[in-house]
Amino acid sequence: MYRDHTCGELRIANVGQKVTLAGWVQRSRKLGGMTFIDLRDRYGITQLVVEADAEASLVETATSLGREFVIQAVGEVVERQSKNPKMPTGDIEIKLEAINILNKSVTPPFTIEDESDGGEDIRAKFRYLDLRRNPLQNALALRHRLAHEVRNYLDSKGFMEIETPYLIKSTPEGARDFVVPSRMNPGQFYALPQSPQTFKQLLMVAGYDRYFQIVRCFRDEDLRADRQPEFTQIDCEMSFVEQEDVLNMFEGMMRTLFKNVVGVDIPNPLPRMSWYDAMDKYGSDKPDVRFGMTIHEITDKVKGNGFSVLDDAAYVGAIAVPGGAEYTRKQIDEITEWVKRPQVGAKGLIYIKLNADGSVKSSIDKFYTPEQLKAVAEAVEAKMGDIIFIMSGDDTRKVQTMLGVLRLEMGGRLGLRDPKVFAPLWIVDFPLLEWSEEDGRFYAMHHPFTAPKPEHMDWFNSNKKEDLERVCANAYDFVLNGNELGGGSIRIHNADVQKRMFEVLGIGPEEAEYKFGFIIHAFQFGAPPHGGLAFGFDRVCALFAGKESIRDFIAFPKNNQGRDVMIDSPSEIDQAQLDELNLDIRPIAE
Ligand code: AMO
Repeated sequence: MYRDHTCGELRIANVGQKVTLAGWVQRSRKLGGMTFIDLRDRYGITQLVVEADAEASLVETATSLGREFVIQAVGEVVERQSKNPKMPTGDIEIKLEAINILNKSVTPPFTIEDESDGGEDIRAKFRYLDLRRNPLQNALALRHRLAHEVRNYLDSKGFMEIETPYLIKSTPEGARDFVVPSRMNPGQFYALPQSPQTFKQLLMVAGYDRYFQIVRCFRDEDLRADRQPEFTQIDCEMSFVEQEDVLNMFEGMMRTLFKNVVGVDIPNPLPRMSWYDAMDKYGSDKPDVRFGMTIHEITDKVKGNGFSVLDDAAYVGAIAVPGGAEYTRKQIDEITEWVKRPQVGAKGLIYIKLNADGSVKSSIDKFYTPEQLKAVAEAVEAKMGDIIFIMSGDDTRKVQTMLGVLRLEMGGRLGLRDPKVFAPLWIVDFPLLEWSEEDGRFYAMHHPFTAPKPEHMDWFNSNKKEDLERVCANAYDFVLNGNELGGGSIRIHNADVQKRMFEVLGIGPEEAEYKFGFIIHAFQFGAPPHGGLAFGFDRVCALFAGKESIRDFIAFPKNNQGRDVMIDSPSEIDQAQLDELNLDIRPIAE
């Protein structure tokens, strides 16, 4: 037996016991003839001490220890002279009788402490060392705990966890597929699943009416803090349900997770907002509702005063920022430059200050009377001391989106986006289809298996663009603090409706048969009404911990270039492998 206690376990009550510990040397230092060693494992740190009058060989071994050596230490638990109230084991130390070096270590490239001195790149390259640090251990422990709670909840509701294949055929979720060449079928490829969408629907056809899976998904898309090329979903599907049943089941799950893991009570029932309201008021389909500062349309209030920027715009919108009347000219210029960055894309920013003395000052004083500006202020529900920011343009949704980005920025600057405050809600009533001006065709807003609302079937069967644009879906997203945590829908379960959907999406019968024949055929054999959703598990973990980046909640993540710098992947494969797969690599274009 290598150890009888962990490094996080011993307390004052253990004083007098002889114990054996094993772990890594965090650091060792000499202090007036004595040697102190901090021994670490994933449960904590215990201080070891070698007295000045200990056996010479013991003193020698103790002083020879380097950082990250793996040792076994035998000794007696004694009360510390100077206690450390910050450590759970801070009342005691181990008076050593023997040290056994189990393995040496070269000097690690960065310090294995809560605040490491290593930069991101070096820590990624030596991820297994980074994973020894507390913040990452806590992150993975939270992930484990959440997965456990998810399984408990779903199991208690009769859900069965069923695995679906990773080597499949392309699933249309809007991103690019990762593909895998088949040696046994030269010239042919598998695709890795972007989600188990089609398989879970086939499981419904097969009668497994409550399915879930904590499952890896693969998407070849541009990466950001909340996106990885391989990530994990809590994927769920139910039969004989309507939207209401699905929402109740899964807000129940989230309520349980919040309660059991972070001790937070979320509202019951959760608020719901239509997609249209979210866009109009927050300029986003994933609104952060921790604070107000909502968008108001003021198009009618500002027309006809000879100011062409607003006169010619199809839409004018505004937000009121509390306390903003105090901003200096320089501060306003800085915010204006901020919205003009390509990431936001605004042409400019108009402001109206509502000064504390009741006066009004704006960048459009020349065109509007103070009374007109006050009428705008009223429409925006602005208060004395606020600044109103105005944007305009021809594309309503685009202007709203830019105002939404500005709103988030100002909310952040004002400290209104506290990660320890949780404001979850459902977004519902999504449009079914999205028109692409560029491609001159409709795309499914969610995915092509999402059902139109039954009351919109006439529009769905119409061939007019404006009818099709009006069709809503029984689709829903679970949104938390400005992040999409999950989404799903009630599905099409009728082969004719599914065929019509492909037709609307411009997928011809042959292409539909080639790509989705399996699901269209399955629907002919008694597909039950069904629906479900999937949560992004990595995002759930990060947000529960109050973080935006999912990377630290994945043991071995990829960097923003999609690389694993630790194993140096992706990498070339050798000629023999290429030959076996019947593949040639073209010269790579500059
Ligand atoms: P969707 O594409 O909305 O739906 O994905 C569900 C959730 O998965 C998370 N997610 C990601 N997380 C990390 N990195 C990524 N690259 C990434 N992409 C998505 C998000 C998202 O809300 N089959 C449907 C679900 C259904 O209809 O049941 C689907 O995959 O949190």
